[in-house]
Amino acid sequence: MNLLLQADSTLFLGRFHSLAVHLPIGFLVLAAIFYIISRITRNESLLKPLPLILFFGALGAIASVLLGWFLSDEGGYPEDTLFWHQWMGISVAIFSSVSWLWVKGVFGKKKSNDTTQTSNQNHSIIAPKGSLGWVLVVLVLLVSITGHLGGNLTHGEDYLFAYAPEFLQELASSNDSEKESRFEFPTEPDSVLLFGHILDQVLIQKCGSCHNEETKKGGFLLTTHEGLLAGGENGEVFQSGSPMSSELFKRISMDPSSRKFMPPKGPQMSYSETMLLKFWIQEGMPFDMKVTDERIPEELKLILQSEYKLVTERKPIYEKVQVDPVSSEELQKLRNLGFRVMPLSEENNFLEVVAQDSMTAEKINALLSVKSQITWLDLSNSGIKDEWLTPLSEFVMLTRLNLNDNSISDLGLAQVQGLEYLEAILLHSTQVSDVGIKMLSIQKNLQRIYVWNTKVTQEIGDSLQKENTKLQIDLGIKEVKKEDKGLKSD
Ligand code: HEC
Repeated sequence: MNLLLQADSTLFLGRFHSLAVHLPIGFLVLAAIFYIISRITRNESLLKPLPLILFFGALGAIASVLLGWFLSDEGGYPEDTLFWHQWMGISVAIFSSVSWLWVKGVFGKKKSNDTTQTSNQNHSIIAPKGSLGWVLVVLVLLVSITGHLGGNLTHGEDYLFAYAPEFLQELASSNDSEKESRFEFPTEPDSVLLFGHILDQVLIQKCGSCHNEETKKGGFLLTTHEGLLAGGENGEVFQSGSPMSSELFKRISMDPSSRKFMPPKGPQMSYSETMLLKFWIQEGMPFDMKVTDERIPEELKLILQSEYKLVTERKPIYEKVQVDPVSSEELQKLRNLGFRVMPLSEENNFLEVVAQDSMTAEKINALLSVKSQITWLDLSNSGIKDEWLTPLSEFVMLTRLNLNDNSISDLGLAQVQGLEYLEAILLHSTQVSDVGIKMLSIQKNLQRIYVWNTKVTQEIGDSLQKENTKLQIDLGIKEVKKEDKGLKSD
């Protein structure tokens, strides 16, 4: 028995609030209807049941207030709305009780005095009958406002107008703009964090009302990273790498009718949000993962693009950082050695360098003077040898490298291995083999390798591509991507 009492008996009762509130609404509106009909038909006898109707209305209102109080204990309601709903509800209870006493007094007196003081009494009924109308107007108004606020609490602010014609929706939703700016992102796509800017905000918005410093339901604080990692009464809520055994993920992905489903009320996690959170747990909960991260699979990138209007493609390094311009004397020196050298644009000091004559080790070494500026380098068909490629390892800003039509091998490729920003490499008609492209394929930013007419086998090409879905290995005489064509000298 004790256990039963301890069990959330107030919470249990609280849930009946939404049932009980229909009583005062029904009775008080009924009282108003009786009054109106009696005025229209001039039928006084319709006023007789009013004390009884108001009595039940007041009783229902008092019960609703008590049950509502229990319910509010569950927490998780927007405080502003709750505050007003609560006080409007209390005023309905008080005002309807007073009205009942008043009406009972007036009509009760009428009954007992009926036979004796007819003329006087008639006089005293007329006056309150007029005020009775106003009393009922106020009651119905109070009940409507309370009910509307209550509806907002249970169904959310937009419930009532969700299916309304558009112009009504616009009128009703004054705080739409607030909603659109639910997320604030830095303008640089490379600094948008999957957790910090998206998932964290979603969790705070959908779960924060019950799991903040004050409420901390289930002993679980979700508004700070420490709280998230610490978990709740039953221990940690995340199992890094395994969403299916993470309590938090289980709670949001279980059958919503389950008692343990989270959130117990209010808007649920959307499918997209759930998928993003699942991925994040799977990846080991990296708090610093950017939305441009290569590990994010294509379908989730699509979600990030369409739902959050985010750019998920990484910008190449030459669009992100600025470098010092190279002096015109230096440029001239390189041009004299047989290079075509051009800045990418008037505002961008990065260089495109194309070898136009046969190369020597010395000529390639001379490029070291612009090693921080070279981002596109074309050494195709220039008679280079593996040993001459040593300086390449210092061209840290290289994003595209064309080595087509040279007798270079995997040995030369070893110099390219550490180039962090390299995105495309053209190697057709060279001696490179499976060993070489295996070495390249683990480079994190490399997206395209062109290797037709080399020793690279289709099997290895296919299997590397399967391992790294971001990587495109081109073994046929297919179209070279337009942006990579720029590398070819004319
Ligand atoms: C309306 C209040 C409310 C909201 C909103 C809410 N929770 Fe809860 N949550 C609770 C209560 C109450 C408990 C404790 C009872 C239980 O474990 O079911 C709890 C418990 C939990 C627990 C278990 C903690 C433990 O160690 O036992 C997790 C995990 C959790 N919530 C996650 C969430 C997530 C995620 C969201 C948002 C999607 C959320 N909650 C939204 C009320 C809420």
